[in-house]
Amino acid sequence: MRMLNWKKRRWILLAMGTLPGWLAASPSVHDLEAQYRFSCAQCHGLDGTSMSPAGEKLPGRVLADRKWLAEQKDADLLQSILNGKGAMPSFKHKMRPEEAKRMLMEILRPLARRVR
Ligand code: HEC
Repeated sequence: MRMLNWKKRRWILLAMGTLPGWLAASPSVHDLEAQYRFSCAQCHGLDGTSMSPAGEKLPGRVLADRKWLAEQKDADLLQSILNGKGAMPSFKHKMRPEEAKRMLMEILRPLARRVR
């Protein structure tokens, strides 16, 4: 009897481990921030100024450059995030287009407003 319970529990754990990623859809702003820190900050710096070890070596874009960012079209920036640009890798397989869009509107554009 005890054995059976344990087996059942193990199946539930297994099932939970294989839940498809799409169940974790529509990330909150908090998740986006975590994703920025995880996937982007290594080159662009936490504040978008590229002042990271990798960012200083790369021709890392200063995302927080307000004047520059204001002149960029959303569609072009999204294109760069999803398909990569120069030394920047493509994020097509790591984020969906609507996530990239939220990253742009909720993380990147506000960053630029903070730094001069
Ligand atoms: C390996 C380093 C690296 C990582 C990681 C990285 N970037 Fe970049 N990024 C760059 C470089 C270098 C450029 C400048 C590309 C150029 O203009 O040639 C750039 C440019 C950009 C641009 C401007 C694109 C344009 O059209 O001029 C945006 C927006 C951007 N990155 C967003 C992001 C986001 C969002 C992430 C995380 C999901 C990210 N980057 C991760 C290196 C990186």
